[in-house]
Formats: sequence, C-alpha cells, structure tokens
Amino acid sequence: MARIGTYSIMVHGGAGALNNVNDSRTAVRYLESLRRILEHGRDVLTLGGSALQAVEACATLLEDDPLFNAGCGSVLNEAGKVEMDAAIMNGHDLSAGAVAGVSDITNPIQLARRVMSHSKHVMLVGEGALRFADSCEIPRAPKEYFFTPQRVAQLEEARAKGSMILDHDGTDEQSDDQKYGTIGAVAFDLQGNLAAATSTGGIVNKRLGRVGDSPILGAGVYADNETCAVSATGYGEDFMRTVFAKTISDYIAMQGMNAGTATHAGIEYLQRRVHGRGGVIVVDRQGNCASGFTTKRMIHGWIEHGGSTVVRF
Ligand code: GLY
Repeated sequence: MARIGTYSIMVHGGAGALNNVNDSRTAVRYLESLRRILEHGRDVLTLGGSALQAVEACATLLEDDPLFNAGCGSVLNEAGKVEMDAAIMNGHDLSAGAVAGVSDITNPIQLARRVMSHSKHVMLVGEGALRFADSCEIPRAPKEYFFTPQRVAQLEEARAKGSMILDHDGTDEQSDDQKYGTIGAVAFDLQGNLAAATSTGGIVNKRLGRVGDSPILGAGVYADNETCAVSATGYGEDFMRTVFAKTISDYIAMQGMNAGTATHAGIEYLQRRVHGRGGVIVVDRQGNCASGFTTKRMIHGWIEHGGSTVVRF
C-alpha cells in the first residue's frame, strides 16, 4: 500500500568519475544547485502539486543550469550541433511524452510534456518535433544559448582524439573528468502517484541522429504507480540493451522487491550483462528512495518521506 500523505523526490545530474569535484568550489556549485532544485520540488509537492508537475519543474531547472548536460548545458555532436533527447512519464495512467534529436528548444522536457498532453503520440523526433513545438508556442533559444565555452572545448578535444566521448569522459580512472551526463527526476506525491523525467544532450561528438536511452520508455525513464519511478544516467546504449528502467520496475512487480533491493538487482544485472556504465535513481510506490551506480560517482540527491534534503556524489 502506498503511504498516502507523504512525499518523496529525487534528482540526478549525471554519473562518472567526476574528478572535477575534487575541486571544492566545483563540488559546492553542483551540490548547491541540486539542493536548490530539490527544495523547489519539495515546494511543488507540499503545495499539493502532482509528481508529474514536480519532475517537470525539477528537470526544467536542471536543464537551465549549464553545469549539467541537458538544455543549455548540452554537449555538441560531430557536426558541432546540439541534439537533445527527453521524456516524461506519469505512473498514474502510464501516459508519456518524449522527444529525440531536437535542437534550439530551451526546455526539451516541457516539449516532451506537451507531446504527452497535446498530441496523440508518445514520441516525436527532429524536424517534426520542432514543428510541433512551434504549434504549441514552446520557446526556442538562439544557438548561442547552448554553446558554452566548455562544450566547444570538449568537442574540440573529442575531435582531436578522433573519438566519441561522454560528457566529462574517460572510462579509465586516469581521466580527469569522466561523467556520463544526463539529468533526471523521480517523485512520489501526496496522492501516491509516481512520475519520472529524463533529459540529455547525449554524448560529445556523437553521430548526427544518434539517440540515447533518455527518451526511450523502459530504458532511461519509466514510471508506474504499481511499482516505481526510474531515471537513469549513463552510456545510453548500455541502458537500451538492458531495458534498464523497466527491468527495475519488473523486479518490484514480479519479485516483490522495494526500491533498494530492485535498484541493487538492476545494477548487478547491468554490470553483469553489458558492463554498463552509469547510475539510476528510483522511488517506489511507498515513497522509498534508492540510488545505485557502476561509476565512481553520481551527482544526486533526495528528500524521502518529506524528510531532510540529502545531496551527494
Ligand atoms: N544517457 C544519455 C545518453 O546516452 O544519451
């Protein structure tokens, strides 16, 4: 039974080695941003907002912060362009909206929400998604909005190496700045509803047209009131191959697990089957929070059952 009358919320801002957080000023910037965003989520939920509203609001703020690889902090692809993916899902009725390969949209998560509420479809991609955005008067931003000096330097580094790298890449621990960037939020509201949102710029120097796990229901995002809400961050191909978010949900549905044990089982499966790189946040139908990652760190935080705000790497 859901614990109606309490609320929980979790957010993440990417996983990886994150050696840049050894610099205490960078660490403080990340943690302060997450704390501020979680407190905003708390306000939405305590004022009676839905889990869906809370995850959309938190994901929007994460997209607006250039620290994170989503929205204005998105990484650049092989063509030097931003192509973003996002999805949102409502655990109450399994309704969902997703966009993939979109450019110029300030907040792809809001566009995904519009696909859910104002179209007959679940996912729109590329030019079609942009036309839909224009029809809904979803704001676009000029190219300069997305081109932070850090992202341009990252692309140049990837091109020089002749490789495709993840945001703050490096699978070896020698790397300065290994991070699999994505942002996400999951929430449990006062009515016992669950929702999840995930948004990303993907991988630095990725192929034009490459889509990751973030907009794929069951891979990088999933929510079902009967089980849990899940948002993943990591190397998208690993999460698609393992249908990762739905796998965690299935552990709860079919094996009676809770957020903690299902997350543990999901991470074990990810590692064992595909040596998956990344992490996940999960809130279950009782509002219990859990997180797990195969990388050295994951930037994340939570408020469980209306308690104190916790942020950590
Ligand atoms: N998890 C984000 C991506 O692979 O695109």
